[in-house]
Amino acid sequence: MSKNKTTYVCSAEDCDYRSPRWLGQCPRCKEWNTLQELIETPSVHPTVAPVGGSTPIPISQLSATDGEVRLRVGIQELDRVLGGGLVTGSLVLIGGDPGVGKSTLLLMVLDRFARRGIPTLYVSAEESARQVQLRAERLGIGGDTLFLLAETDLDRALSAVDQVGPKVLVLDSVQTLCAPHIGSVPGSVAQVREVAARAMALAKGRDLPTFLVGHVTKQGGLAGPKALEHLVDTVIYFEGDGSTQLRALRATKNRFGSTGELGFFEMSSAGLVEVPDASARMLSERVPDAPGTAVVAAMEGSRPLLAEVQALVGRPTPGTPGRTVLGLDKGRLDMLVAVLGKLGYALHDRDVFASAAGGIRLTEPAADLAIAVALASSLRERPIDPGTLVFGEIGLVGELRAVSHPNLRVIEAARHGFRRVIAPAAAARHAPEGVELIGVRTLRDALAALA
Ligand code: TYD
Ligand code: MG
Repeated sequence: MSKNKTTYVCSAEDCDYRSPRWLGQCPRCKEWNTLQELIETPSVHPTVAPVGGSTPIPISQLSATDGEVRLRVGIQELDRVLGGGLVTGSLVLIGGDPGVGKSTLLLMVLDRFARRGIPTLYVSAEESARQVQLRAERLGIGGDTLFLLAETDLDRALSAVDQVGPKVLVLDSVQTLCAPHIGSVPGSVAQVREVAARAMALAKGRDLPTFLVGHVTKQGGLAGPKALEHLVDTVIYFEGDGSTQLRALRATKNRFGSTGELGFFEMSSAGLVEVPDASARMLSERVPDAPGTAVVAAMEGSRPLLAEVQALVGRPTPGTPGRTVLGLDKGRLDMLVAVLGKLGYALHDRDVFASAAGGIRLTEPAADLAIAVALASSLRERPIDPGTLVFGEIGLVGELRAVSHPNLRVIEAARHGFRRVIAPAAAARHAPEGVELIGVRTLRDALAALA
């Protein structure tokens, strides 16, 4: 302990400034009160030997999947986000707002393994054993191979691993577990780093796949921003807004697979239910003949997602008209209102409401065309043909610009029964059978094609 050295680390996002003294303002990012004490202790955890050992091998003799054993969780939406299953010995950080369902999801994950006779251990440093047990009862989870420990002391949690010998481990959460030899409070940068480093050493040392829960802090980053993400193998965010039951899993870092993949779930009274066809779910409440709605094919990671954009245009008002957006980009709405004005769709003196239905966020520029035609449709009170889907970015002079993955978008539209797609001209090569693909160069042409 005498060798302890104190450093202060900036906890602001994207900043990792270190100073030997505490400072009120970070000299690098200029944020106030972000410097946190980090006590560096001589490392007590074994050095991590990466898979493959410490003898150099010619790269040609290694295959991409050498030493990589995957365990299927059996929850498809999660397995896909993980890159095809849980890699043994990997440390997976599950981040998200409190209450989004992280603990629920991980309890279900352990249950899937336990049902196959694989011993698992859930360490809860946040809820009492009774609370976790009540949740398990609610989810219909039990069995002799799912072990539960309510413990905040990291050392004791890790000795439970020796006792139980689990094949999958959950540590819930990195902010509430506490390494006693670190002289700072749980949740501090020093503590979360230590907890994550010890979890990593354990995962690698025993080839034990481990899920580490991390709450997102007020600034939007995981605790000890940047302090954790580079330490772990995989970072998955569990997202969802309070207004809907829909939840999305998104990998933002994955040493064993691609990022950007999405997995959808719905929070129900019986726990999280997979939503394998998110597009169908997004469109399930659509009123096809109402003016002011349009369907867009947006990209979420490598997957296309069909979503409904709604617009409502009010009567002309003498005062300053209101602009309300939900789940869409406000700046793009303002721009589209101006572009439509040039085409004779006068919206400047009317209240405008626009939203992405179903509580999702559609900030991709490909949604521009859907927003614009929904606005025009509401203004003229003319519904858009329900069998038509649109996508494309709109530029300031009303030109329709190409977007990524046009073929995937069109295929998803076809799969859901859309017969006509209006898209940037460059996309027109990718029409699957049964779909009329209309490539247009301008918003004006798109509106003409819809009339
Ligand atoms: P939880 O897993 O505790 O979230 P986190 O660990 O991310 O903080 O999820 C808590 C919320 O989920 C809580 O508001 C209750 C709700 N919930 C259900 O709606 N149904 C269920 O079956 C369960 C277990 C929880
Ligand atoms: Mg929890």
